[in-house]
Amino acid sequence: MHVPVITIDGPSGSGKGAISRALASRLGWNYLDSGSLYRLLALAALHEGIALDDAAALVDLAGQLGGRCSMPATETVAIMLDGEEVSAELRTEAAGNAASQLAVLPAVRRALLDWQRDCRQPPGLVADGRDMGTVVFPDAELKLFLTARPEVRAERRYKQLKDMGKEANLADLIEEVKARDERDATRRTAPLKPAEDAHLLDNSDALEAATLAEVLDLVRERF
Ligand code: DC
Repeated sequence: MHVPVITIDGPSGSGKGAISRALASRLGWNYLDSGSLYRLLALAALHEGIALDDAAALVDLAGQLGGRCSMPATETVAIMLDGEEVSAELRTEAAGNAASQLAVLPAVRRALLDWQRDCRQPPGLVADGRDMGTVVFPDAELKLFLTARPEVRAERRYKQLKDMGKEANLADLIEEVKARDERDATRRTAPLKPAEDAHLLDNSDALEAATLAEVLDLVRERF
């Protein structure tokens, strides 16, 4: 049975997570947050003292991950690793940066490929990441590339951290966002870039509701 896929790629802080979740829930489709998969692997590596450039050990760890963690397709269920809830730890800058480091390794990306493709289950899948439309689901029915200016994305992150009662420095966050973009966009394997047939949406100056409305229009046109 053919299962339709909508891919939403883009840099961190572009709002793709919120839009993808809202879209999956509207359509009643499954949701794949591929960044969380890279983050989970990074956390497991950090917990075990595995270096973030040790491809062989990371591939081995990726092979065990399915049995050691649970990554539900909804936000309301906790993400677990080795029996511990890691939902909050997963969202930290440290986990994101570590994920971005191991994500440059082609063998690691290959090791996570089947897991991601297995998420293509009826009635459909909304897949969010960096290479969903280019590598993981090149035959997706609809491909979106969501972005926003780095300063805007850093500011969103700043607000999130403040709302969580955490210390944050906006200038540092802008530098971190740019450094992560640079690493994600210039890596050799599956770099962050729009698929040729992707619709580009810049939501720097748009509210989430307006972006979602625009996405829903594209979905209606396509399906
Ligand atoms: O979307 P995110 O911020 O949760 O992703 C964390 C890191 O994982 C990101 O900086 C790069 C990597 N990643 C990737 O290489 N490919 C994906 N499809 C998703 C994430």
